[in-house]
Amino acid sequence: MQKVGFTIKNCIVWDKVNMGIGWQYRFQHEFIIFAVKGKQRVRRVPFRNVTDIWRLPRILGNKTVHPTEKPVALMEKIILNSSEEGETVVDFFMGSGPVVEASRKLN
Ligand SMILES: C[S@@+](CC[C@H](N)C(=O)[O-])C[C@H]1O[C@@H](n2cnc3c(N)ncnc32)[C@H](O)[C@@H]1O
Repeated sequence: MQKVGFTIKNCIVWDKVNMGIGWQYRFQHEFIIFAVKGKQRVRRVPFRNVTDIWRLPRILGNKTVHPTEKPVALMEKIILNSSEEGETVVDFFMGSGPVVEASRKLN
């Protein structure tokens, strides 16, 4: 990311509430790298009130259609925090498409 001009601002920990794969000390979190490029602009959600730990249940294995499926609510949070209505959201690794679903919902 840095090589192509992004500035890494933070690393968010997604606490998935329910345990995931693994054996001893099974994984219950994933990291979300927050990076910016270009001009800073007005954000819809005031970042001062948001911390780097996001607690939001993962989708249970027997309810997923993709092995690494992310919840739509998680994508909604990311999109709301970093874009305005009418802007373009890009997801290069679509999988089951939660970003598409969240983007459509939020315009
Ligand atoms: C970790 S999964 C993403 C899961 C997705 N976030 C979801 O919630 O369902 C990565 C996805 O990217 C796709 N993928 C990996 N490399 C790719 C590439 N070079 N071009 C296009 N798709 C790719 C994989 O097929 C897989 O569906």
